[in-house]
Amino acid sequence: MHPSAPRRPADLDAVRDSYDRVADNYVDMVVSTGIGDVRSHPWLRAAMDVFADSVAGRGPVLDVGCGPGQVTAYLVERGVDASGVDLSPRMIAHARRLHPHCRFAVASATGLRAADASLAGILGWWSLFNLPRDVLAQVLASFARALAPGGRLVLATHVGDGDLVRTEAYGGVPVTWTTHLWQPEQLTVLLRDAGLRPEAELRLPPDGASGAGVVLVAAAPGAAD
Ligand SMILES: C[S@@+](CC[C@H](N)C(=O)[O-])C[C@H]1O[C@@H](n2cnc3c(N)ncnc32)[C@H](O)[C@@H]1O
Repeated sequence: MHPSAPRRPADLDAVRDSYDRVADNYVDMVVSTGIGDVRSHPWLRAAMDVFADSVAGRGPVLDVGCGPGQVTAYLVERGVDASGVDLSPRMIAHARRLHPHCRFAVASATGLRAADASLAGILGWWSLFNLPRDVLAQVLASFARALAPGGRLVLATHVGDGDLVRTEAYGGVPVTWTTHLWQPEQLTVLLRDAGLRPEAELRLPPDGASGAGVVLVAAAPGAAD
């Protein structure tokens, strides 16, 4: 393990069990409503398309917290050498069932085994908001190490102040997790501190169905185009 590998969050097992419990409802939501699928959100799809174009043909791309794998599969369709990992075995079981042509594995963002400078791209697509704040900083540093020169990271997360302790989600399923809200400016500082260069930011206002969000793209130093 790398000497500065991220700390394991104390609630990691509870978060894993919670996502295992919500996985079936989450998949139903994605499949039946399109919520969570970039294909049904033009601005998110546009951001994902630019990301895909920037990493295609440059090496492997890891979708960290891929859930049922719809974004991983979208990237593969666009010619990206993408695979997905997720903390929840139930999410990964759905991902493998729904996208049998893609590669998925169970892993935590805090325990990735990617070699230094081995990845052309990394996604943290609505999947890192349960990490304690200090752990997110450590995870971003681990992402920066894993990215090849010029590689890109795309993050999407919930915007706001403070922490939301959730006891149910996705149709009243009991969960035990905390959603850590972030201001985009705070995330930009974290990305810079991790050694990445923020490149783009897409802010999403609350829309009735969900709260405010943000997509951030950052590049690893080196041979970017
Ligand atoms: C809201 S879902 C988003 C899933 C997917 N990225 C999408 O866009 O549909 C959050 C996902 O993050 C995963 N997750 C939470 N904490 C994680 C961690 N420490 N490491 C890896 N995955 C994690 C959950 O299991 C869940 O599948």
